[in-house]
Amino acid sequence: MAKIVGAITTSHIPAIGRAIAKGLQDDPYWKPFFDGFPPVRDWLAKVRPDVVVLVYNDHGLNFFLDKMPTFAIGAAPQYRNADEGWGIPTLPPFPGDPALSWHLIESLVGEEFDLTTCQEMVVDHAFTLPMALCWPDLKWPVRTVPVCVNTVQGPLPSAARCHRLGQAIARAVAGWPGDERIVVMGTGGLSHQLDGERAGFINKDFDLQFMESMTSDPSWATKYTTHELVELAGTQGVELLNWLVARGTLPEKVRRAHSNYHIPISNTASGLMVLEPLG
Ligand code: DHB
Ligand code: FE
Repeated sequence: MAKIVGAITTSHIPAIGRAIAKGLQDDPYWKPFFDGFPPVRDWLAKVRPDVVVLVYNDHGLNFFLDKMPTFAIGAAPQYRNADEGWGIPTLPPFPGDPALSWHLIESLVGEEFDLTTCQEMVVDHAFTLPMALCWPDLKWPVRTVPVCVNTVQGPLPSAARCHRLGQAIARAVAGWPGDERIVVMGTGGLSHQLDGERAGFINKDFDLQFMESMTSDPSWATKYTTHELVELAGTQGVELLNWLVARGTLPEKVRRAHSNYHIPISNTASGLMVLEPLG
């Protein structure tokens, strides 16, 4: 039986790609952010995943405002990093796992999560940069399954539904006869707002409470509507829905293996957590 060995939740910010390309890891601005990742790499070396299921939001690369699936999943043999207009270097393609993707699709649609199935898909900074932070040599040692959540254009899926999607992914994995070790990543957040009157908005108190809830009370954020989450975390901070999907794939009880929080990176409060299932 395939096994979810843990989850990594992290912010995704295009400026990280430029900082990597320019070797700014020890620059005073960047150091508190990049210093969060060596413990993640040590943890990955310990848990040795075969597959990463990566939950993120597409930023206009596959889906624009005219066609916006609430949930979408990749079922391609490979995912290419396309130019998304931020001027950051393109990273090598990521191997897919079509057989596992189709199993997840069958199981999730069977549970009435009607995901858009994508036999071709390109990936943006929300997918590529967390991968590059985990494997800086860019030699991806894992196969990948991208899962996209609409955090971009209303109506957004509720926090409760995102948490339940994660639980359904966990059931699907439990029903897969392979012996893969799977890490689920959720990328985005934490609080930030890129546009409008509140551009630059960050809410540290909310972020820290949200991170605490990931270990102590995993359904805490589900008491909020998506409008309330936008109010609390910002129009892009609501990307934390991707963290809730990842959290939902783990049992009620987890151990926090690592975490980091730093303000700001670009316009964003950057958060990072590594969670392991207990029991
Ligand atoms: C920034 C953050 C994001 O989540 C994103 O997708 C793009 C930009 C930022 O803080 O610059
Ligand atoms: Fe984003």
